[in-house]
Amino acid sequence: MKNKPISNNNKIKFYHKLINNEVIYSKNSINRYDKMNSKSGNSLNNKVEELEKLRKKINSIKNCELKKSANNIVFSDGNLNSKIMIIGEGPGANEDKEGKPFVGRAGKLLDKMLESIKLHRKNVYITNVVNFRPPMNRRPTDEEIKRYLPFLTRHIELINPKVLLLLGSTALNAVIGDEMVISKARGRWERKKIGNIVTNAIASFHPAFLMRQPDQKKYAWEDLKMVRKKILDLKINLNVE
Ligand code: URA
Repeated sequence: MKNKPISNNNKIKFYHKLINNEVIYSKNSINRYDKMNSKSGNSLNNKVEELEKLRKKINSIKNCELKKSANNIVFSDGNLNSKIMIIGEGPGANEDKEGKPFVGRAGKLLDKMLESIKLHRKNVYITNVVNFRPPMNRRPTDEEIKRYLPFLTRHIELINPKVLLLLGSTALNAVIGDEMVISKARGRWERKKIGNIVTNAIASFHPAFLMRQPDQKKYAWEDLKMVRKKILDLKINLNVE
């Protein structure tokens, strides 16, 4: 049997492995061995890989009523390097069709809410408590929420947000606690350990609820201002790649 020719790049990788060197391989002729940047480069690659692993794991869930009737997994949208993470309840019809969270009417309102505090999707990372559309847009059951919670926890660990905005009672109850009522718990910062990270969590009303109850928007506005202030206080960089 003929041996496969070894590419130059693979040879270099092999020899550097032998001497246990950390290098980054790039097609660019300069900075081929960028030891200074190798750490951040590696951790970004790891994050992308780990997120993809998580997506695949969720997508291979068995015997799930949500997945059975859904067209697409709805994993996330936004910037995976953002330190601001937003969690909704679960995909609706438009999200199920496009495979992206918050693209329907509630999503348009969410975009406006973000804009009101000078944010855009490219500055935040968005996901949901469950990743498949519940049939007839029903609320996910407690069992379903429990089943998806380890995925959500891992998702939060991977993004490692400094600010976590929970939209609506499903996200509030899944992440902070079952006993909380959104009308009472909203608009309060909570230092919260989630998996192996600690973050600043705040709950607010879900945009779909605000469309039904527009008089409650004034409270959502108070919450959004708190988010803006936290971003400034923590000096969160919004212009992440
Ligand atoms: N409502 C949610 O909670 N999530 C979406 O992605 C869309 C609507």
